[in-house]
Amino acid sequence: MAELSVKLLARVNISKGIIKRLVDQHNDVVFANSLGAEDMVLTDIIMKHFRKVVMFTLDTGRLPMETYDLMHQVEDFYQCKLKYYYPDAAEIEKFTYENGINAFYNSVEMRKECCRIRKVEPLKRALAGKDAWITGQRRSQSVTRANLDEIEYDEIYGLPKANPLADWDINEIWEYIKCLEIPYNTLHDHFYPSIGCAPCTRAITPGEDIRSGRWWWENPESKECGLHSSNID
Ligand code: ADX
Ligand code: SF4
Repeated sequence: MAELSVKLLARVNISKGIIKRLVDQHNDVVFANSLGAEDMVLTDIIMKHFRKVVMFTLDTGRLPMETYDLMHQVEDFYQCKLKYYYPDAAEIEKFTYENGINAFYNSVEMRKECCRIRKVEPLKRALAGKDAWITGQRRSQSVTRANLDEIEYDEIYGLPKANPLADWDINEIWEYIKCLEIPYNTLHDHFYPSIGCAPCTRAITPGEDIRSGRWWWENPESKECGLHSSNID
């Protein structure tokens, strides 16, 4: 295992400070863990220093097999639990019966409705009664995230929201993962820098925008699934 550079260690300390502030000020702090590269860095920091933070994952039912394998690996590696939230069965049964199993390709509206049922409604349940939440969003991920704050007030869910990696760049994320030899999604080794549901994520060619493989048929400005709606208001 290699050592983190002085510059990266300084970044880690800032991110730890953000999480510490949140945990000191609030009781029930949760971390929305998509198991993407950023979230593996946060998983490592949280599991090493803030074990009382509960990690949850929105299992949409359409995630790639590699992501499920990683969930299992994370539970084993950190000897921890992930809490899984699922789409409402009746709602998703109705939606797929009325619109087809892959309706998200039909229009942006259908894609957003699928995201609403599979991600946003379960997120509401995951955040109900909680005091603050943590995400792995970064400013340089997308035009919709360029103005992200490290700690903001999430008007939609009515609670503070921390983005402790807001200022990190993608090379720093990978320096952390590789140096500390922590688990990560093997799809990243196959040109998938950003991973969501399997049918809505594809590999990119080197040099392309890192989120260009997500909902690749849509404009960059509409590429949010509703989890972070405040980004596009
Ligand atoms: S998305 O909104 O376009 O899907 P992205 O994959 O960039 O988001 O992830 C941004 C942050 O949203 C993640 O770091 C994580 O905090 C949260 N997130 C996204 N997808 C999930 C998921 N399936 N379960 C839990 N949190 C998620
Ligand atoms: Fe549905 Fe695709 Fe959104 Fe996943 S990313 S919830 S499959 S539209």
